[in-house]
Amino acid sequence: MNENARPTRAPARARRPPVRGTDTPLQREHALTIFERGAPGRRAFQCPALDVPEAPLDELLPAHLRRAEPPRLPEVSEPEIVRHYVRLSKRNFDLDSGFYPLGSCTMKHNPRLHERVAALPGHARLHPLQDPSRAQGALELMYNLEAALSEISGLPHVCLQPSAGSHGELAGVLLTRAYHEARGETRHKVLTPDTAHGTNPATVTMAGFEVVKIATNPHGGVDLDDLRAKADTDVACLMLTNPNTLGLFDPNIQEIASVVHEVGATLYYDGANLNAVMGISRPGDMGFDIVHFNLHKSFTQPHGGGGPGSGPIAVSARIEPFLPVPRVARGEDGSFDLVGEGSDSIGRLRGFQGNYGCFVRSYAYICSLGAPGLKDASETAVLNANYLLARLRQLGVCEHLPLAYSNAQSNASFPTGDNKPLTNVPSPDGDGKDGGGVSGLCLHEFVLSGGPMKRALKIKTLDLAKRLLDYGYHPPTVYFPLLVEEALMVEPTETETRETLDGFAEALAEILREAAEDPEIALQAPYTTPVRRLDEAGAAKRPVIRQAL
Ligand SMILES: Cc1ncc(COP(=O)(O)O)c(C=O)c1O
Repeated sequence: MNENARPTRAPARARRPPVRGTDTPLQREHALTIFERGAPGRRAFQCPALDVPEAPLDELLPAHLRRAEPPRLPEVSEPEIVRHYVRLSKRNFDLDSGFYPLGSCTMKHNPRLHERVAALPGHARLHPLQDPSRAQGALELMYNLEAALSEISGLPHVCLQPSAGSHGELAGVLLTRAYHEARGETRHKVLTPDTAHGTNPATVTMAGFEVVKIATNPHGGVDLDDLRAKADTDVACLMLTNPNTLGLFDPNIQEIASVVHEVGATLYYDGANLNAVMGISRPGDMGFDIVHFNLHKSFTQPHGGGGPGSGPIAVSARIEPFLPVPRVARGEDGSFDLVGEGSDSIGRLRGFQGNYGCFVRSYAYICSLGAPGLKDASETAVLNANYLLARLRQLGVCEHLPLAYSNAQSNASFPTGDNKPLTNVPSPDGDGKDGGGVSGLCLHEFVLSGGPMKRALKIKTLDLAKRLLDYGYHPPTVYFPLLVEEALMVEPTETETRETLDGFAEALAEILREAAEDPEIALQAPYTTPVRRLDEAGAAKRPVIRQAL
């Protein structure tokens, strides 16, 4: 279709949400817990008639293992329980009702097809203790998923067990230790750049290693001099994400890999940012030895608020002997089994094989997109982030919220499929201001600094984030990475439309206009959410739990 023949749309213009007289019904409602609802004897479920021979209770469950008193469970009817949970769900923000550009979290749309496939009884009702001979389909799916992840990462061996990205990190650090110990070496340091996600140093500490921070250079990448100074034979591993948490691809990755490998250490890839590079560049080709995937991010799962997640790992041949067990194997007759107890393995990381429902959804995603579709998803994620950044510049938002490290050179050499650079735009001045124009590109996400906004308009990044809720948007990630003043980290993902991106950009511009007139509007926000501004630290440190269980 000729682009010019399309009906034109009025430019997005955010409507200012109310700020006064906004005591909404949800704000007035005193949220009851399920324990405060219902009445004795009310039920939402009726047991079907017994269709097996009746057996005395003592035979099924000995008296000493039974409770003396029944547990104090809520007694509610089905409508009560349905309304309770629907009401609760409305008190929260979710991806199905609005844009959720939470940087580093890849809140992309979760196709409903995946839910249908995961709900098939052969998947949903499969018992984890089922004998492998009777779970062939599930094992085949896992085997194929491992092969797909191996291809995507460029590393030959995959283990699906870990339950989250951070759990994959722990697996990776334990594998590193096992690898060094098998060579008769004890190394006690792990290097992490100061842009690293908090789970990296936390994992390192949890695994008993010492965290050594590596500085960031003025372009937002690893400071090579600092790396060279700190890489010695005490170092077990360098953990890195590329693109990093600034949304910048480090063009020095081959040099970084050779510094790390020269001292005999391993290179760990935090795959949380894989959504920028699927089908374009592979961690294995960059020299990484161990990779974790966040299936729940790059390969879609409903996530946020605690899971379930899945953080498989892929490793090079030298790390393979230490992988967690049991592993899925295919025999010569084509049948599948779980094998590997008693090897050099670091052992089990969890019960059973991992979060199987996540495997089904991610495998459905990979199969339905195929290799070209995955590449397209990453390219569109990068395009969407750069489009949004350009709109923010156009609307003047970046005058108050400049792009952090907008003098990055790294993206000028971001490898595309055909090995042509994505852009050869020269880097701008590097004076801490946003470069403007077309310079200073990002990958799938970008980090803005709210420092100038705070000084000129007297509102902080947190206030801006709270006011965004009134406009119907989930705020981007705030105050991370730590090395950016008043950071606002935006990851739009590939599944958002141009209109959504325009609307979000306009909402940010409108909030800044409001703040220029009256900063109190943002300082008191939000006005329209079920609860107004919370003491978030207090809520986490001193939770008020009304119901004794
Ligand atoms: C860069 C990065 N690394 C690691 C993680 C940890 O992943 P998970 O939340 O699955 O444990 C995250 C999560 O947000 C992340 O953004």
